[in-house]
Amino acid sequence: MAHLWSGRFAGDPDAELFAFGSSFRFDRRLFEDDVRGSRAWAAGLARAGVLSATDAGAIEKGLREILEQGLADPSFVSDAHGDEDIHAFVERELISRIGDAGRRLHTGRSRNEQVAVDLRLYLKRRIPAIQRAIGGAVQSLVTLADLSGDALMPSYTHLRRAQPVLVSHFLLSHSAALRRDVDRLSAVLAEIDELPLGSGAIAGTSYGIDVNGLAADLGFSRIARNSMDVSGDRDFVASFLHAASLGMVHLSRIAEDFILFTSEEFGFFELADSAATGSSLMPQKKNPDPLELVRGKSGRVIGHLAGWLVTMKGLPAGYNKDLQEDKESLFDAEDTWLGCLGATASVVGGLKPNAAVTAKAASGLLLATDVADYLVAKGLPFRDAHEVVGSLVRRLLGEKRGFDELSVAEWREHSPLFDEDVRSAITPLRSIEKKQTPQSTAPGAVAAALAETKRWLLELQRKAD
Ligand code: ARG
Repeated sequence: MAHLWSGRFAGDPDAELFAFGSSFRFDRRLFEDDVRGSRAWAAGLARAGVLSATDAGAIEKGLREILEQGLADPSFVSDAHGDEDIHAFVERELISRIGDAGRRLHTGRSRNEQVAVDLRLYLKRRIPAIQRAIGGAVQSLVTLADLSGDALMPSYTHLRRAQPVLVSHFLLSHSAALRRDVDRLSAVLAEIDELPLGSGAIAGTSYGIDVNGLAADLGFSRIARNSMDVSGDRDFVASFLHAASLGMVHLSRIAEDFILFTSEEFGFFELADSAATGSSLMPQKKNPDPLELVRGKSGRVIGHLAGWLVTMKGLPAGYNKDLQEDKESLFDAEDTWLGCLGATASVVGGLKPNAAVTAKAASGLLLATDVADYLVAKGLPFRDAHEVVGSLVRRLLGEKRGFDELSVAEWREHSPLFDEDVRSAITPLRSIEKKQTPQSTAPGAVAAALAETKRWLLELQRKAD
């Protein structure tokens, strides 16, 4: 069969090598973007006087019909004709419908810039969907925070009990990370907001295309700086893969926390039966498989980023076929990320907090910092207070007792600054109530943060509508 470049060759390419180089089976995802870019290009050619109004009209009608057919019946975008890529598919379909006018569409344009514009258009329509899915995961954390009410739990550093926090404060810590992922995707949108067309294969185009008009048609706010750069630039693919990788790192850490916290050892939350699996051998098991898969799949997305950076690093300036490798990484990262966002939202949305267990774990020696603060309030320098409380903790560990079991006399054996009020001052609830900053676990601060997160979710939803 004839290819987009057959004229120069005496014979057909080797069938296996042609199949090896073909990208149709994955770049067919760019179908609607390719048609969109081509419609705009034809209009640009017509405005520049390169295409007659009749030809431009025929191309526009032909492309519109191809788009409608492809959207109505995805199986239409099939490799039945052995097309090398989606660009070849669309052009062949067009020519088969309108003949010679279709053969004029590619005037002054290269597939090098076409794939660059298609991929940008694709990301411009897919990124908001990913941002909405991140919103879904944040919503599941917010729902669980509402359900947790004023329940307390320990926070951990080094996976050792640190200080009491509200369960909702812990949940909002993960929401804060996910919200950065939304912002990071917005930064990718800003990076790709640039029209590559007009760059030709590498040196620019010899036709008087109004690139500003073309940019406006396609929704880009600026023009690429340099045609050679356009030809070989896939930085934005790396940026997207980086956003996806960090997004997956965040989901993996959420998964890890809930794998631990739903275990028999912690018992802080109960996994819904619908979000767990059993063992074929051990009847008692309730395994958190979906969370483990989310954690596991993070490695795969990070692998796409690392692999893509390695693919780019040795390339000479301009387009090289190596760049075709961008798409499978990008699409798989997108699919994996979306799948994991959905799974995380579903598992987290079905968790039940176990307030009695988390509250019990939030009492005890993790109030030591509050005891030190008590002494500071009575005038002792913090370093000295730390020393006093350290030795008190050593004693209690030896006696297997807690702060709440000490008599006032026993407190005073460690410092004369301890008074009767120490017994009511050192409780988990007092500990969180004493916090004063807006980012702290103080109940008022957390209520405000929860309300602010709900407003953020509404705003995300509003932008999507
Ligand atoms: N399938 C190609 C890609 O994904 C499209 C660009 C082809 N350009 C070329 N000069 N062969 O990169």
